[in-house]
Amino acid sequence: MEFRDLKKQYQCHRQAIDAAMQSVVENTHFISGPQVSQLEERLSAFAGVKHCIACGNGTDALQLALMAWEIDARDAVFVPDFTFFSSGEVVPLTGGVPVFVDVDPLTFNIDCESLEKAITYVINCTELRPRAVVVVDLFGQPAEYDKIREITKRFHMLLLEDAAQSFGGTLGGHRTGSLGDISTTSFFPSKPLGCYGDGGAVFTDNDEWADRLRSLHVHGKGSDKYDNVRIGMNSRLDTLQAAVLLAKLSFFEEELAACERVAQKYTELLKDAVQTPHILENRQSAWAQYTICLKDTMERERVIESLNEAGIPSAVYYKKTMHLQEAFRGRQVEAVSCKAAQELSERCLSLPFHPYMEEGQIKLVCERVLRGVADVQR
Ligand SMILES: Cc1ncc(COP(=O)(O)O)c(C=O)c1O
Repeated sequence: MEFRDLKKQYQCHRQAIDAAMQSVVENTHFISGPQVSQLEERLSAFAGVKHCIACGNGTDALQLALMAWEIDARDAVFVPDFTFFSSGEVVPLTGGVPVFVDVDPLTFNIDCESLEKAITYVINCTELRPRAVVVVDLFGQPAEYDKIREITKRFHMLLLEDAAQSFGGTLGGHRTGSLGDISTTSFFPSKPLGCYGDGGAVFTDNDEWADRLRSLHVHGKGSDKYDNVRIGMNSRLDTLQAAVLLAKLSFFEEELAACERVAQKYTELLKDAVQTPHILENRQSAWAQYTICLKDTMERERVIESLNEAGIPSAVYYKKTMHLQEAFRGRQVEAVSCKAAQELSERCLSLPFHPYMEEGQIKLVCERVLRGVADVQR
């Protein structure tokens, strides 16, 4: 069994994807070809945002956003403690100071009480100014933007939505990618909307930031790329990747609906034995992962073994919380305890998940999970 079956997706949509790639190869417009701007238009319409700037990957997208805001050494940037490294990595990379914040044990997303405590700590106990929050929609579920927006407004801070895992999700009818002052996503192959290599995008309604982002992602270009008005990056989305994404966009909504059905089946079969994903009202997850929580690390190890015995892959996202990463030693402000994040890192387990999963496969995974849990209880 595959963890995310990209081969099956390709088999189902081979003609459209092959044709899209072939047209780029025949045209040889490999960098900034017409498919890139077509994709940007399609994505901004999909997300309901004025500007979309396609770029090299989801990490660059986050970095570009912080560069557009000119984050510097006086700025504290708040990041959930339970996320992929990129969400925090970009903060010191652009010169800011990361402050890791605890998460909600049920949704895995940033905890607003902990965020407020961390901001107050930074104001009262450091020389830094609270400048921005990176809000991650972990495993596909949009975070609690109403509450977060109230906090960022009150403290005059910027909100960066990291929708790397949630592109395609919705909150109150609004798509992810539209929920931050700037929002970013990743097209890493296994993401809800994935290309055939690295890719990413930045979204914003703000014209000035959009101009700056367009400049920053092509060597800080001015009137053209040989007129350089600021220090930037080389972070463009390849035309080939744009073509693949255009082809995949035509069946993306069908895939999202199929993911919802797979998630519901998993939950039906597992909910009495383990902690299944808790999706809040008024929103739709993009289901980048289906992540359960076991009682403790021992139970998780037994479930992993039980799955392995049947040749079923699983993954632990994430084994180490952000504030414990060696890379942040001496570079972060430790403002709050991140106990919930720590506990999740000891108990969470992501199961095989994709829109092409058959009912028999879901049942087999669940049987093995339940067997692992029963073994521990015996
Ligand atoms: C939450 C989150 N942010 C950022 C990224 C970075 O995306 P990329 O791998 O395209 O750089 C990822 C990718 O795994 C992610 O999961």
